[in-house]
Order: sequence, then structure tokens, then C-alpha cells
Amino acid sequence: MSPSLADQTVAQLGGPHSVLTRQKRDHIELDRLIESIDAATGDERGALLNRLCRLVFPHAFAEESVLWPAIRRWVPEGEELTLEIEREHQEINELFTELEKLDVDSPQHHELWRRIVALLREDVRDEEDRLLPMLQQAVPHRALVALGWAWEATRRTSPTRPHPVVARRPPGNVAAAAPLTFVDRGRDRLDQLSRRSGGTLSSASTSLSGALARVAGVIEHLPPLTRGEDPSTYSGRTP
Ligand SMILES: [Fe+2]
Repeated sequence: MSPSLADQTVAQLGGPHSVLTRQKRDHIELDRLIESIDAATGDERGALLNRLCRLVFPHAFAEESVLWPAIRRWVPEGEELTLEIEREHQEINELFTELEKLDVDSPQHHELWRRIVALLREDVRDEEDRLLPMLQQAVPHRALVALGWAWEATRRTSPTRPHPVVARRPPGNVAAAAPLTFVDRGRDRLDQLSRRSGGTLSSASTSLSGALARVAGVIEHLPPLTRGEDPSTYSGRTP
């Protein structure tokens, strides 16, 4: 099997546009954000967590929509390994939903955050050391570049918040992409506005963002969005 992505150069990974290079780039940025969050408090910690969500959730959503289906086709162990990673993603989605309800400086937030960090790091190691080297072994460089563009295009138009009820597999997650992306990215802009402004505008942005969160809660329970699931990654919640 190919060595871990961590030990390979950009040329070995298939060049700057290869899906392997793009994955490794995001994983390095994730590590940097985790360290910044660990050192931050209050509004700064909240804003950094929001940036981490905007990195992590589109990254994982595009993996589940584009990359894992390709790996299941080309890599013999793909079914088993992608299912294992989908279970990790599901757990991260569920824990992040809990984290969003807590005060960022509370001991409960710090404790839950540590559990999430452990899972995020385990997920990166599973991908860089096991799953992605198998993909590298199975397909030529030009396929890695084609997958890189497809993954990037999906990542740029994917939801930016945790959605534990939505299926981790097509067709459910593909159907979920457009409406949840619209709502999530709208909430991101409102939350930014709320942090930057004060007084009436800030509280109006916060309450509008809360209303959009409730809209997302209704959308994600619509039947087409929960289809395609492996039973082990189904949260089974009702609104
Ligand atoms: Fe990844």
C-alpha cells in the first residue's frame, strides 16, 4: 500500500489539484484551527468554532457525496472503511449539535470539545493513513485530479453546519445539499453580522438566525433527505 499522505510530497500525491493534496491541505488547516480554538475564549472562541464548522462540514459532506461512492467502486475494502468513517462523521455531527447549545467558556463545552477533537483527529488518521492511500494505489493520477475538481466543486456548495438527521449517503445527502446550504450559509452571514454590530441590528440578526435554524430542522427531516442511509449511521431522531 502507498505510504500515509502525511509522508508524501505534493508531486507524489498527484500535483496541487489532486484530491489527495486538497484533502491534506484541509487537514493541516483543521489542525491549525483546533490549536487556535484551544487557546481562545469568549467571542473569539465562538468565531473560530464557526470557521472550523465552515471547514469541516462542507469537507465531510463532499466526501460522502462524491469521494466515498467513488472509493466504494474502485477499492475492494472501500465499503467497510467508508462505513467506519461515516459512523465517525455521524458522531461528530451529533456531538457538534450538542456543543452549539453550550456556553463556549463552560467546563461542559471544553469537555465536549476535547471529545470532538479526538474524533476529528482519528478521522484524519483513518483517511490519510488507510483509506486515501488505497485510492491512490487503485487509480491513475488523472483520476485523482478529476476527483479533486469534483470534490472541490461540491465542497464549495455544501452545508456548513451539523445535520445529524440527514443521510450520510446518496440520494438523501445529495437532495439535502441545496436547501441546507442556502439556510446554513445565510445563518453564517447573519451570525457574522451579529458579532460585528451591536444593539438592535445584532439582536435582529441573532433572532433571524435562530428562525433559520428552525427552518433547517424542518427541512432535514423531510423523507427524501433521510434516504440512502446505512442503519448504523441513522440518528433516528424526530423533530
Ligand atoms: Fe478528509
